[in-house]
Amino acid sequence: MRLKKIITLSTASLLAFSLTACSDSSSKTTGNTSEKSSKGDSKGKTVEITYARGADTTGSTKKLIDAFEKSHPNIKIHYLEMPNSSGQQHDQYVTAFSSKSSEIDVFDADVVWPAEFAQANYAMELDRFIDKDHIKMDNYFPGTVEAAKFDGKQWAMPKYMDAGILFYRKDLIPNPPQTWDELIAQAKQAKGKGGTTAGYVMQANQYEGLVVNAMEFIGSYGGKIIDENNKVVVNSPETIKGLKKMVEVANSGITPNNLLTYQETETERAFNQGQTALARNWPYMAKTADDASDSKVKGKFGYTTLPKGDKGSASTLGGYMAMINRYTDHPKEAWEFVKFMTGPDGQTISAVEGGRAPTIKALYDKPEVQKARPLFKEPFFIKTLSSTIPRPVTPNYQKISDIIQIEVSKALSNSESVEQAVQNMETKIKAAIK
Ligand code: GLC
Repeated sequence: MRLKKIITLSTASLLAFSLTACSDSSSKTTGNTSEKSSKGDSKGKTVEITYARGADTTGSTKKLIDAFEKSHPNIKIHYLEMPNSSGQQHDQYVTAFSSKSSEIDVFDADVVWPAEFAQANYAMELDRFIDKDHIKMDNYFPGTVEAAKFDGKQWAMPKYMDAGILFYRKDLIPNPPQTWDELIAQAKQAKGKGGTTAGYVMQANQYEGLVVNAMEFIGSYGGKIIDENNKVVVNSPETIKGLKKMVEVANSGITPNNLLTYQETETERAFNQGQTALARNWPYMAKTADDASDSKVKGKFGYTTLPKGDKGSASTLGGYMAMINRYTDHPKEAWEFVKFMTGPDGQTISAVEGGRAPTIKALYDKPEVQKARPLFKEPFFIKTLSSTIPRPVTPNYQKISDIIQIEVSKALSNSESVEQAVQNMETKIKAAIK
C-alpha cells in the first residue's frame, strides 16, 4: 500500500526531492504490521504516520521519534525529510495539500504559514483536541500561540521558537558590539585574524531568511512593513535607514564575497568552521557550534543580543509549529504525535538534543534544559524571546514575503537604491493584499 502511494506521488512529481531524500525511521518495523494507508478503526494494529519536516542538522528528530515510538508502541513514525529552506518546504507542501494528498499526516510549519494553510483548507483545526486533552495554551509564549491562530481558531501547536541572536568568537571579539556601527568596526578589525576570512555573516540569499534579516535591521531603526491595523507602512524614513544599514553591512568588506548565497546552513558552516568572527543566526547554532564533531569553535564563542540601530535592537520571531494535514487518514494518531512533540517531554528533547528554544515558558527553568543548553538560562535570551517582532500574520504572507525578498535583494546587490526598493515594496504589497 505504502509503495503504491509513493509511486503515485512520484509519478505526479510531487515531493520529488523529499521522497528521494527521505530517511525512514520505521523501515525496520514496516511490513505486515504497518497500516499507513488503512482507513477506519485502527484498534490493536500498528498505525504508521508520515511526519515531514525540514532537514535537521542537530540530529534531534530521530531521538524525538524514538522516544515517541517507545511510549506509543502502536504508532510508528515514517520521517520524511524536506529541504532545509523554508520557502522550498512551503512550495512542496502546497503542491501536496492542494492535490488533497494524504501521504503526509503531520508536518512542521514555519510560523508564517498557519494562516495561509488554514484558509486554503490544508490543515486540521486543533481546538477540539486541545480541549479534550486540557492543554493550556497560556503555558506557551503568547507570540507563538498568536502565529498559530487564524479566524479565532488554533491550527497549529507551537513546537520551538526562534529569535535572531548574535554569535561571536570570544578570542577575537572581547566586547561584543552594541550597535550596527560597532559591529562593522569590530568585524573589520577581526577579519583575517584567528583563521577567519570574514568578519560577519548573516542570511542574505533571496529566500525567507532575507525577510527575517531585513526586518531586524528595519525594526532596529523603528520601521515596519505592515502595522497592527494591516496598513502598509513600509515607505518610511525609519525603514529606509534600517535597509541602508543592511546594505552598508553587506558592502563594507566584512562579509564573504558570496554573502548573497547565504542561508542558515552556510552561516552555520562559516561560524563553526572558524571562518568568521561574528554571525547572525538562530539559537540552534549554540548547540551545533558546541557539539558538532567538526566544530572548530567549541568553547570559544559567546552569544548576545543583535546590535542596536537608533531605536534599539530587534529580533524577528521565527520557529516551527506542528500541524496536521486535513486529509490525513489518521487524525487521532497524528494528534498523539503532535501532542507529544509540542508538549513538555517532546520539547525537552528538542531543547536538549537539538538546541531548539522551547515555546513552553516553564521549560526555561528546568534544570535538565539549563544544564544542557546554557543559552536558555541567559537573561538576555529570555528578554529577546519576550520581545520578538512577528512577521505579518495573514493568508497573503507568501506574496508579501516574495515582494520583500525581491526588493531587498536588489538593494543589497546595488541594482536599485534603498529608496526605490521601499517605494516598490509599498506599491506591490498594497496591490497584493487589496
Ligand atoms: C528559521 C525560522 C523560520 C524562518 C526561517 C527563515 O527556520 O524558524 O521562522 O522563516 O528560519 O530562513
